[in-house]
Amino acid sequence: MSILVTGGAGYIGSHTVVELQNEGYDVVVIDNLSNSCKKSLERVEKITGKPVKFYEDDIRDREALENIFRNEDIDSCIHFAGLKAVAESVRIPWEYYDNNISGTLTLLDVMRSHSVKNIIFSSSATVYGTPKFVPITEDCPKGTCTNPYGWTKSMLEQILTDIQFADNEWNVVLLRYFNPIGAHKSGLIGENPTGIPNNLMPYVTQVAIGKRDHLNVFGNDYDTHDGTGVRDYLHVVDLAKGHVMALKKIKDKSGLSIYNLGTGIGYSVLDIVKNFEEATGVKVPYKITGRRPGDIATCYADPSKAAKELGWRAEYGIKEMCEDSWRWQSMNPDGYGE
Ligand code: NAD
Ligand code: WQD
Repeated sequence: MSILVTGGAGYIGSHTVVELQNEGYDVVVIDNLSNSCKKSLERVEKITGKPVKFYEDDIRDREALENIFRNEDIDSCIHFAGLKAVAESVRIPWEYYDNNISGTLTLLDVMRSHSVKNIIFSSSATVYGTPKFVPITEDCPKGTCTNPYGWTKSMLEQILTDIQFADNEWNVVLLRYFNPIGAHKSGLIGENPTGIPNNLMPYVTQVAIGKRDHLNVFGNDYDTHDGTGVRDYLHVVDLAKGHVMALKKIKDKSGLSIYNLGTGIGYSVLDIVKNFEEATGVKVPYKITGRRPGDIATCYADPSKAAKELGWRAEYGIKEMCEDSWRWQSMNPDGYGE
């Protein structure tokens, strides 16, 4: 029995493949490499000492998926594949809806036709919109998303919920990630953004290594302890382990489950700069600029449901998140170099 990992060559996917292989699972990866490269999987093999079965295919390609399900003994799917750049999704919404929604519908249809009905889906705290309260529990009502990317996550949650409701043979776990940062301790795999990073930590590490002059801090007039945006950053290895725990839950025929994966601690942008400088000894010059459209002031999780039901808790603190992000960046100044 194998686990199909869509988007397994990407940032979170590659870390999850490591944890799955370490736990003894057989893994099959499908990725079209639109935002990743094969080298990440070669590095995974180096870390685990096990080969990764890889199909360079698109999840919208029904025939390619059929071929995988015919050839491999797939039991469950962890579904990471998708486009994820918020600003880009505002510019090219059609591509985002096609890739993320049509892709997932094709995947689900092929899974169904092969009677594989276990899926763990990468959702996001973005589905809460401007949260009605913090810390955010899973009961917090979903909100209005500010961009097409967010809507794809929100809509896919609904699609998966409806499919599971109509056919209770499906086991669906919706994992709402907060802000993953950090990298594997080996420094061999990590986040590899193309072009100018959208997210805070890769921008910080690129400033630290001298690729960018300074960090722009998007607004210091929010209602937070220092005026800058507060988020729940979690280590990508903790996040990856959350998927392994969710997989165990699925085996209990869990129906539909939703979990926040975060630490429960909120750090501001300036807290991150300070912690990064302390953890690495490297300065991160910054300038305060205007707010980024669509940003909210504060977002952090109440992760107690995942602790109670999955036995999952984030283990790494902010110091290790900063150290590990920096180790990856400094060992691989040009990412995977492809
Ligand atoms: P990533 O871009 O590094 O990984 C996504 C992978 O999917 C890439 O390797 C890409 O090549 C592949 N892919 C995209 N479209 C595909 C398609 N049609 N067919 C096959 N492969 C395809 O992103 P990530 O940060 O690892 O995120 C993984 C998932 O988690 C995504 O669904 C993302 O939306 C979600 N998520 C990410 C974050 C975050 O901050 N990184 C937060 C919440 C949710
Ligand atoms: C964090 C904080 C910024 C960059 C996004 C998506 C979300 C999810 C995770 C995928 C905010 C500030 C950032 C910079 C800054 N992705 N910032 N200067 O916005 O919480 O979430 O990624 O699902 O859907 O929206 O993360 O890392 O972009 O920003 O000041 O150059 O850092 O304003 O307060 P965000 P982020």
